Amino acid sequence: MKNNQILALIENYIYQRFNTDTTGHDYYHMRRVAKMANYLAIQEQIDPFLCEIAGWVHDIGDDKLTTNPKLAIADLSDFLSTKCLIHKEQIKLIVEAIDTVSFRKGKSPTTDIGAVVQDADRLDAIGAIGIARAFAYGGSENQPLFSEDKQLQQISTIQHFSDKLLHLKDRLNTATGKKIAIDRHLYMEQFLETFKCEWYFNSRH
Ligand code: ADP
Ligand code: NI
Repeated sequence: MKNNQILALIENYIYQRFNTDTTGHDYYHMRRVAKMANYLAIQEQIDPFLCEIAGWVHDIGDDKLTTNPKLAIADLSDFLSTKCLIHKEQIKLIVEAIDTVSFRKGKSPTTDIGAVVQDADRLDAIGAIGIARAFAYGGSENQPLFSEDKQLQQISTIQHFSDKLLHLKDRLNTATGKKIAIDRHLYMEQFLETFKCEWYFNSRH
């Protein structure tokens, strides 16, 4: 099977599973991560085909999105093997790469593929789309946007920026990823400044 035929099968597999997500982890997140992983891989001279596959499937075993991560990974491995005819060794590389992508799990990538996919996922959590995704996720978890109550502020989506999103640019693995992150980070800083400015508008007027 040709690479682009395999990628089309994988795209369809992911579309079926993430098409209806409204938590910021929809099919288009998977597509952006896949395409960014391909781009970073080419720039960094790492296998773009395996990176793109790992990008497509990186959230398959996320415990936020599935009740049984082990089963989801087993189903993915079976699909990659029987439907896409990908070799066992390559499937091992893909599964290992996606196991280390998550920021929450605090794992470091053990392979170049993992490093690329982690960067692609992190780049999608910052910038304009990162902002939109954070509020979509916050809404799905009933978080306040922001609050002047200390306890509510702690669980607000604005708090998530200082907890996580503003640190991502310094936690990227690849030189190409770091370069792309610069503008996206600046845009988030501008957004936060404008947000606070509008929030406190009436205390100034
Ligand atoms: P990872 O799995 O890499 O740790 P997550 O799946 O937790 O990443 O985050 C994915 C997306 O969900 C990101 O866009 C992130 O900003 C958003 N997100 C995660 N936790 C929160 C939160 N507490 N508030 C708002 N957005 C969040
Ligand atoms: Ni993701």
